[in-house]
Amino acid sequence: EKGGYDHYMLKEIHEQPGALRQTLSGRVDEVAGDVDLDVDLSSEVLADVEEIQLVACGTSYHAGLYARRLLEEFADVRVTVEVASEYEFTGGRDPWETLVVAVTQSGETADTLSAMRKAAKAGARTLAVTNTVGSTAAREADDALYIRAGPEIGVAATKTFAAQVTALSLLTVHIGRRRGALSSERASNLLENLRGLPGAVQQLLDASERLEAVASEYVDEDAYFFVGRKLGAAVALEGALKLKEIAYVHAEGFPSGELKHGTLALVTEDTPVLTVLTEGARPKETLNNVKEVESRGAPVIGFSSYDAAANYLDVEIPIPDLGALEPLVANVGLQLFAYHVANELGRAIDKPRNLAKSVTVE
Ligand code: F6R
Repeated sequence: EKGGYDHYMLKEIHEQPGALRQTLSGRVDEVAGDVDLDVDLSSEVLADVEEIQLVACGTSYHAGLYARRLLEEFADVRVTVEVASEYEFTGGRDPWETLVVAVTQSGETADTLSAMRKAAKAGARTLAVTNTVGSTAAREADDALYIRAGPEIGVAATKTFAAQVTALSLLTVHIGRRRGALSSERASNLLENLRGLPGAVQQLLDASERLEAVASEYVDEDAYFFVGRKLGAAVALEGALKLKEIAYVHAEGFPSGELKHGTLALVTEDTPVLTVLTEGARPKETLNNVKEVESRGAPVIGFSSYDAAANYLDVEIPIPDLGALEPLVANVGLQLFAYHVANELGRAIDKPRNLAKSVTVE
């Protein structure tokens, strides 16, 4: 049942190339630079949208943070992302001008459903981005976009995060094109990168043994910091969450520029820093941040498409060139790192203590 893997989590990490092909299947027209999503968001509807509000919890919130950057860059629309349990509807004068997107793998998370209901009650249009056909979120939202990742058994979300970001990338193209904000050339370029995504993810999966060795070298440290910029900051948060929940060690993720505003005081030779260094996100500045932690003796593990970084990294895991999707590829490396650390520590990886797959209380 686990397909020869020791845990469902590892199996699901390895299922990502296939899952992402499913997410994309039949939805992409690369030549036209457009997508075909089965949603009711027409050009007329989208022309009226002034703001998109993404609401979600946990890993799905991190997918929302990633999507926000994509929507801003490729669809030229104002976007907010909010943790669902903190959400209150603020929709300006005409609630219909706000599109509220609930990102929820299970479609049953109480906080996310409650946020969606607040928005719907105020008169906003709602869209559920979910893995689960027939879920409460899918039924209650005006529209649903399925991420098609297949069932996920491990409590830690892995392939569903990748599929969420991929589906949200398609949604970005859909919205950008229909709002006249995205040229077919730029859209084709993003879609070409999406086509390359399963192969790029496979390259990281092929580095699994290497990451296992890295994990055993850096297991049992005081704390772990995860940093990156822009899209890389979203996966830094996700990398830290994964390590916390399955390995039960302290980890913190944040935008790399924030290091020097406080956390640097905690950095020692016993606090590995995992960094996402991609070409699209001011890698020079991130490299400066890396040098700061390096000079304090912290081991630096870099997931990098930025060649100039190599000299400053204790471990370099190369990321293939894939534009805005590079941080998503790097995240697969962070998943493997978390998995191997947790495995080394003998944790109950598929069922971490105190956690449930679907959180149905507020
Ligand atoms: C972490 C994890 C959780 C979920 C969160 C939201 O690995 O799985 O943080 O992401 O509980 O769940 P959904 O997406 O089902 O709303």
